[in-house]
Amino acid sequence: MQLPSQLRRAIERETARHNLQSLSQAAAELSENYRVQRSAKGTFISSEIRRLAYAAVRLPATFAAARSVFAEIRRLMPDRRISSLLDLGAGPGTAGWAATEAFDELRQITLVERDEERIRMGKSLARAREHAPLENADWVHADLRVAESFPAHDLVVGSYALGEIEQKVSREILKAAWSAARTALVIVEPGTMIGFGLIRMLRDDLIGFGGHLIAPCPHQDDCPIPADDWCHFSQRFERSSLHRRLKTGTLGYEDEKFSYVAASKHPIQPASARVIRHPLRHSGHARILLCAGDGIQTITVTRSDKENWKRVRKIDWGNEWPCGG
Ligand SMILES: C[S@@+](CC[C@H](N)C(=O)[O-])C[C@H]1O[C@@H](n2cnc3c(N)ncnc32)[C@H](O)[C@@H]1O
Repeated sequence: MQLPSQLRRAIERETARHNLQSLSQAAAELSENYRVQRSAKGTFISSEIRRLAYAAVRLPATFAAARSVFAEIRRLMPDRRISSLLDLGAGPGTAGWAATEAFDELRQITLVERDEERIRMGKSLARAREHAPLENADWVHADLRVAESFPAHDLVVGSYALGEIEQKVSREILKAAWSAARTALVIVEPGTMIGFGLIRMLRDDLIGFGGHLIAPCPHQDDCPIPADDWCHFSQRFERSSLHRRLKTGTLGYEDEKFSYVAASKHPIQPASARVIRHPLRHSGHARILLCAGDGIQTITVTRSDKENWKRVRKIDWGNEWPCGG
């Protein structure tokens, strides 16, 4: 997956005022903060250079995760029009950009963010996309923790944002977000034990509100993932040359690990089973770990099972597997 070229160039323009070394240092600090203190409640993205470093090295990753989740929502709800989007904790507008790629019919975007500087950056980036709803998006400078309600939109998203807020408060925000969602709501968090812990809890809340899970879960029963494991997915994205210069390593791509839950206001046919790890492919057989209607199971597909063998060659972590094998 690639960042839209207009967004990539706009980020390059924003970062051009700073020398590479200080940006690189800020990117390293940002990664370290995420690695050791991801659960810290508060803003560690406090300086301009850190905001720019976020745009250069984290935004492409969160974009990739949101884009991949939106694609799955579109796949499972092909007939539901998503003409408006509400993004809670929007940062520089990452999920808005991803939504414009997934939902052609999008006409109205509202982005709620508490950091004025990120709003300024988001507006500046949005001017690069010749897409009226993004350019004319409604930016709301507000603290989610004190908002009692949100305006109704077809799709409500919280992407890598609720994890920055105290858990009790994030559940209250979820409740208000669910009331605002006309069609669906999606929460994306880092694909870590902590990120998934929050997703698992919010998943239960959404079921309690009467939500119909769209993805990734193939059922509404208790989540069968063991307590010492976490359900997460991976989206590969191309590193831009700026990204490569700011982060050490020579790979031309990075894999963003994320956890998510998406729920619909209307009954929906979820995936029949979902691949929850990279399939293990061997010469004559493959093993696939699935979350299915009856819990977690490993299926083995052999070369002699021609139909499934063909499927195995195309299937990937995160995809749907038909009817539990
Ligand atoms: C990790 S960034 C994610 C940004 C964006 N959603 C993305 O996916 O790239 C988290 C964002 O949530 C915002 N945020 C955190 N707590 C917030 C709150 N209480 N009210 C509004 N925004 C908040 C932060 O300012 C930050 O921009």
